Amino acid sequence: MRRLEGKRAIVTGAGSGIGAAVAERFVREGARVAVADIDLEAAKRVAFGLGEGARSYRLDVTRPEEVEALVRGVLDEWGGLDVMVNNAGVGVAATIPETREEDWLRVMDVNLKGTFLGMKYAIPAIRDSGGGSVINMSSIAALVGIKDRAAYSAAKGGILALTRAAAIDHVEEGVRVNCIAPGTVDTPWIERITAGYEDPAAARAAMQARQPHGRFVTPEEIAAMAAYLASEEAESVVGACMVVDGGMTAR
Ligand SMILES: NC(=O)c1ccc[n+]([C@@H]2O[C@H](COP(=O)([O-])OP(=O)(O)OC[C@H]3O[C@@H](n4cnc5c(N)ncnc54)[C@H](O)[C@@H]3O)[C@@H](O)[C@H]2O)c1
Repeated sequence: MRRLEGKRAIVTGAGSGIGAAVAERFVREGARVAVADIDLEAAKRVAFGLGEGARSYRLDVTRPEEVEALVRGVLDEWGGLDVMVNNAGVGVAATIPETREEDWLRVMDVNLKGTFLGMKYAIPAIRDSGGGSVINMSSIAALVGIKDRAAYSAAKGGILALTRAAAIDHVEEGVRVNCIAPGTVDTPWIERITAGYEDPAAARAAMQARQPHGRFVTPEEIAAMAAYLASEEAESVVGACMVVDGGMTAR
């Protein structure tokens, strides 16, 4: 399918995991993609693998001047912006009493402020390009209580609320804002979050065991949902939270 022919997209946190899969799927569907990540080498590797349709950028989503410059750069380069995927995120595995204030601030900054800044600069650009789609990466942690994810759940819940607010504010401008709530997706993020446990292998096995469909969700399954939300097929999907979780929240 080439549902994104001619579209111009930014994907943040695209140097790894879900973001890399989204960039790959978007290019395969005909889009040009700005592969943006705080890790420039990772962004370069992903963009290089995607060929002509992709460009790599170093971006820290917590820095307004960098987000603004990236959006401006894409407008200069490609003449417009149609899709913004606010995907960059970090997690911390802790209950509230265990959460250090600096971890709370970092998780809020990258996930929630990063999504706010991505929308702040991309929404006017998408509106002025004739309308399009914003896709924010929330999590099932925004919908149900997950053990040891206090700060992360708060940030992802904030993203869900911000998604709905922005969806209502900008629907009349032709900008559709939605979010995806992935379940447990097999990416390097899992390694990072389980490293905080005494027995990382046991923590990984426990995460897999809690999946009703018996396996982790794949990054490509999240990318398929993102491609749908970015496409014209989703024109009536506004302010939605699309759950892709193997049944975790159905229990
Ligand atoms: N993996 C999961 O199970 C899962 C589940 C639900 C939601 N999510 C969300 O999906 C998104 C992607 O996660 P992933 O699993 O692919 O993780 P990942 O760690 O593989 O990739 C995240 C990427 O974000 C980049 N990044 C981190 N801080 C950044 C910053 N300040 N500016 C720009 N880029 C930055 C990292 O360099 C990395 O390349 C995150 O928002 C995460 O919270 C993941």
